[in-house]
Amino acid sequence: MEFKTILAKRRSVRKFSPTTPSREVLLDIVRDALTAPSSRNMHTTRFMIVDDRETIDKIAGMRDYGSSFVTGAPAAIVVMGDTTKTDLWRENCAISATMLQLSIVDHGLASCWVHVAGRPCVQAEPEGKKAEEYLRTFLTIPEGCEVECVVALGYSDFEPKPIPEWDSEASIIWHTRE
Ligand SMILES: Cc1cc2nc3c(=O)[nH]c(=O)nc-3n(C[C@H](O)[C@H](O)[C@H](O)COP(=O)(O)O)c2cc1C
Repeated sequence: MEFKTILAKRRSVRKFSPTTPSREVLLDIVRDALTAPSSRNMHTTRFMIVDDRETIDKIAGMRDYGSSFVTGAPAAIVVMGDTTKTDLWRENCAISATMLQLSIVDHGLASCWVHVAGRPCVQAEPEGKKAEEYLRTFLTIPEGCEVECVVALGYSDFEPKPIPEWDSEASIIWHTRE
């Protein structure tokens, strides 16, 4: 797919068809994301591919806001970083997760980022149990790693609208000679 087409097609999708992407496709998507640049080329990002219904349902319950739709996703990829190698592991995670989302579009699928890092399970209890603590009760997170986000993915159940025009004038700052 043309790069500009991938950019235009990438939307956050939270409603999926029941078709499960093959493991070959899931692995290919993760391999694409592994090409992401990383601080000092440390490759600190780790991807846990989940296609087990019961576990996906548990992941959906990590927060009482903005994660329940995950239950309708046929697959989820938990994006985490090795915190022992560089203080920029979080930046590495975010870049990798973005690459993951672009590759997902290239494979004819759709996705949505569900944030984990620092987020409480209960919105009304910001100092209470964290989504990451909850995930650790049933996922084996590798030693030294922390979770950044979960990318829920599958085949979209509808044709998402293309990205709307953004007020780019406000986002772009030029510093020129004239
Ligand atoms: C850092 C980050 C955190 C996000 N967290 C969530 C989330 O927890 N739940 C959710 O449904 N969407 C989440 N999203 C998706 C955004 O809501 C979405 O990207 C935004 O509304 C723009 O829509 P678009 O992706 O279709 O362009 C997140 C996106 C980013 C980049």
